[in-house]
Amino acid sequence: MVRHFLDFEGYTAEEILHIIDMAINFKRKGYPDNKPLSGKSVVLIFEKPSTRTRVSFQVAITKLGGESIPLSVSEMQLSRGEPISDTMRVLSAYVDAVVARVYKHETLSEMAKYSSVPVINALSDRFHPCQGLADIMTIKELKGDIHSVKVAYVGDGNNVCNSLIQACSLLGVRIAVASPKEYQPPETVITQAKEWVKKSGSLIELTENPEDAVRDADVVYTDVFVSMGQEEEREKRLKIFYPKYKVTERLMSLAKPDAIFMHCLPAHREEEVEASVINGERSAVWQQAANRLHTEAALLLYLLQDGGRF
Ligand code: CP
Ligand code: NVA
Repeated sequence: MVRHFLDFEGYTAEEILHIIDMAINFKRKGYPDNKPLSGKSVVLIFEKPSTRTRVSFQVAITKLGGESIPLSVSEMQLSRGEPISDTMRVLSAYVDAVVARVYKHETLSEMAKYSSVPVINALSDRFHPCQGLADIMTIKELKGDIHSVKVAYVGDGNNVCNSLIQACSLLGVRIAVASPKEYQPPETVITQAKEWVKKSGSLIELTENPEDAVRDADVVYTDVFVSMGQEEEREKRLKIFYPKYKVTERLMSLAKPDAIFMHCLPAHREEEVEASVINGERSAVWQQAANRLHTEAALLLYLLQDGGRF
């Protein structure tokens, strides 16, 4: 059976830590000389814009000796109504993996259903698991023992938040999420996380109050208030999120003195985060973005070698 990576479900903590350790090794020691993806091709399909995900995947594939084929949906027959099922049957005959960024998560599920090669979620409305891998790698690099870390996520209970919740609850990292009542993470994600923390021995806390979430946190994380595809809700969302959920110097001062600031990027300075916080000494955002390259290389290698089939 082929293995996809649409979210963290179906993966063990050991597997995810193994992928992260592979990524840390690539970063420290460089990429293997034997080009392990030589002769392999990966298609990257984008329904929405991307800078980090697209470039980091393409560079990762090149470093491992493979070939990448980036496509926007508008240049595919999908945009003229070719069914996902037909597209995926055909692509499976050409390539070794499909990386896709889509509006609706259901599109990815449909892709995975008809694909005989791994499908990797490069962001959907529900999850952004590749971001979650780089986030945990960054926390591990900067904080060491992830089991003693408290992460505070402040803002929209969105795709990035959901993947952070999954990653933390699977791996045993304590997480507190502060979101407005109407924008809390979905019930399905919370219910699952509450099950996963029982096994990993961590804790998930939900609140509407950013100050409660960041108290004693080692990591303060935020994302945009308006995600791609929600542009028409901008005014309504800003009224609810701003300024209460903005990460400011004052909010950071409630976290641990050595707490770091994280953001998946792209960021809106003076909207969800004060410029001095994201530009400041405690900001880990550049390291976090750089780590995307290494975690994506490790993920691809893992899925395209033995870990991809079980
Ligand atoms: N963080 C992230 O996924 O960035 P891009 O939208 O630029 O890929
Ligand atoms: N939540 C954001 C993340 C961008 C990387 C979005 O979906 O637009």
